[in-house]
Order: sequence, then structure tokens, then C-alpha cells
Amino acid sequence: MASFLISLPALERNARMLAQVAQEGGAHMLLALKAFSTTATFDTLRPYAAGCCASGLYEGRLAARHMGKHVAVYSPAYRPAELLELLDIAHHIDFNSLPQWQHYRELCCKHPRVQSGELQLGLRVNPCYSTGHTPLYDPCVPGSRLGIPAAELAGVDLSGISGLHFHTLCEQGAQELIDTFRAFEKDFGALLASPQIRYLNLGGGHWITKPNYDRAALVNLLREIRSAYHVEVYLEPGEAWCVHTGVLRARVLDVFHSLGYQHAILDVSASAHMPDVLEMPYRPDVYAVRPAAEQAPGTPAVSLPGESYSPAAQPGELPYTYRLGAPTCLAGDVMGDFSFASPLQPGDEIVFDDMTHYTIVKTTHFNGVPHPAVQLLHADGHISTACALDYADFEHRLG
Ligand SMILES: Cc1ncc(COP(=O)(O)O)c(C=O)c1O
Repeated sequence: MASFLISLPALERNARMLAQVAQEGGAHMLLALKAFSTTATFDTLRPYAAGCCASGLYEGRLAARHMGKHVAVYSPAYRPAELLELLDIAHHIDFNSLPQWQHYRELCCKHPRVQSGELQLGLRVNPCYSTGHTPLYDPCVPGSRLGIPAAELAGVDLSGISGLHFHTLCEQGAQELIDTFRAFEKDFGALLASPQIRYLNLGGGHWITKPNYDRAALVNLLREIRSAYHVEVYLEPGEAWCVHTGVLRARVLDVFHSLGYQHAILDVSASAHMPDVLEMPYRPDVYAVRPAAEQAPGTPAVSLPGESYSPAAQPGELPYTYRLGAPTCLAGDVMGDFSFASPLQPGDEIVFDDMTHYTIVKTTHFNGVPHPAVQLLHADGHISTACALDYADFEHRLG
């Protein structure tokens, strides 16, 4: 059975690093649930996270029930019943447009939690400053629906608003954030400096736990914002909590030759289990699992005793090249072409690296492919199963 295998010690390593940045910068580090919502790991993350960033009611509920602490919600639009419940559980609610804010302003402002200051209300703004290269992930593309551009705010009554939020980055460094903040400051600095604004949320997309991320530069920026503007500063990365903490383990079901390619069909699907491979698109790091005696050099995020890991390479670099594909009908449901040091056979195990974020939260039962289990590797080496979906879950979802 395929499985997502997540290392709790690796999650804790990232969490500790994020908490340290938050502490040194005097900021608050939230976990973006859209990237990773496996509540069975929250006991590990809770001591380090200031809370969660939720994309609407369901994630907001999950945050309140399983993480506790601060719940910051932003959605491009709220349904009336959704907003009513969020008013009871969130600490920040950020609005994406002036019409949504104006529609809900009265309801929000008379809520006792808003009046007591326990819940604050903000606007997502759009600095219209792109630093990314993938339009699918760039909220600053022309025609974007995400966030209010500065020109739309001119002359508008913003009473009741006490926070500003921007999210523009994706897998980026401190310098891109600094550049974006300067662009934001140019258009929104006067509003940020006004006494009504008490928090600034810098969104996600910060690759803080990557080895080459300039954490000192981020800490300096956070300190600068706090002292120049007297606001509480929040960051809400998702991926940074999860980088290099988990793998997707799959098995080879069949190997055959067709139309000039050696194909290996696996028991997982790019479309159903790691859709960013197709959407972004990107090429995951892949390893073949070998008996430890073979001593192949490789280091996926999660390695198990008794196994060694032979890294796959570009097609043709190693002697045996395969197109790794899914057991689905979608012609393009392939993970890519990879070469291996030794031939693949049915039953062999393959590891896809770095598969904790934007995988489990996005999976489907497309083609009825069995859903990989979600398993946790604990500090003492034992593995527990957090979730094992079966046929009944497949049937139930489809109605
Ligand atoms: C509003 C918002 N906040 C936070 C995030 C988390 O981003 P990341 O996982 O890249 O850090 C996203 C991702 O799309 C987002 O849209």
C-alpha cells in the first residue's frame, strides 16, 4: 500500500527554526493549513506555531479545534453562514474586496468579540509587485482577483479595519520579501502608519527553512517593520513548515516497453496524489529503495533502517531509464522520465521526496486509485498510521 510518510522529528526541526525567526523578529508565525493540515502532527507543531492561517470556515474550524491559539482567516469571499461562525472562532478575518467588507461591516463591528478586541478585521491588499515566475501562483498578475490595489482604496471609509494583509510570494527568499515590502510601503505606507492599523500579515511563500534562506535579513525586516509602524507582524508560511519532512512511498506494479519507452506503472498518481507535479509543473526527486546491504548513496527526507536509497537521475544518465506513470486513464498522468542504477521490477519500492506540503490536502480518488495511507515516523523510530482511507471512503465521497 502506498503511503505518505512524514517524519515528526523533521517537522519539529523546521518548526523550531520558524519559531526562532519569529522570536528574534518579534513576529508571529502561523501555519498555513492550505499547505498541510494533518492534525495528528499538531502536538509536535503546537509549541512552535503561533496558530494557523485558514482559507475559510473548514480550515478555521480545524484550526480552532486542533491547534487552538491564533486563527487568522482570509478567503476571496465569505458565505453569510460561514462568516457568522468565523466571527465566533477567528482572531483575524481579512476581506478580499471592498464590497465584501462593506456588506459585512455592520455585522462584524457590532460583534462582541470585535468590540472587545479579541477579533480584528483586515483587508487583503495587492501591492501589484510580482517577484515570481509562475503565473499560476502569482497573485500580482494583471487581472488578479486577489487583494485590493491601492488605487481602489482612495477616499474609502475604512473605519472598523485594523489590519492589512498581503500574500504575493511563492518559494522565495528574504530579498523578494524586502523588495515587495518596499513596493507595498510606497502605496500603503501612510495607511500602515495610521493608528487604526494594528497588524500586518506578510502572507506565505517564504522559504525560511531552506538552507540558503537569509533568515538574518528576514529578522531585520521584521524588527524594522515593528519599530517603524508599531504593528503586530504575522507570517503565514505553509511550505516552510514542511520542506524536507516527508516522502510518498509507491510500488512498481508493471514494467513494459512501448513506442520507444520503458514504462513503469506505479500505484500512485501525479494527478491524484501530487498534482503540483503537473500543475506547476516540477520534477520531484526520486529514489529506488534497495536493501541496506546494497549501500546506495541517497538521502530522501525520511529514511528507514534496513533500507538504502539509490537516487534516480535524468533520463539516460544511469543505465536504466523509465517513464514513471500512474494507474489512471489520464495520458499525461506521468511523474516524469527517470534513470536508475539497476532495472525496476514489479514490487520494487520508489520514494518521491518532499511530499508533505500541497499533497495530502489536494488528493482525490480519481479513477478510484486507492488513497495512500498517511503515516508518521516518530522520534523513537516507530511508525504510526494517522489515516488509512479505504473503499468505503471512496464510495462515501462520491455521493
Ligand atoms: C493567502 C495565503 N497565505 C499563505 C499561503 C502559504 O504559502 P506557502 O505554502 O507558499 O508558504 C498561501 C499559499 O497559496 C496563500 O495563498
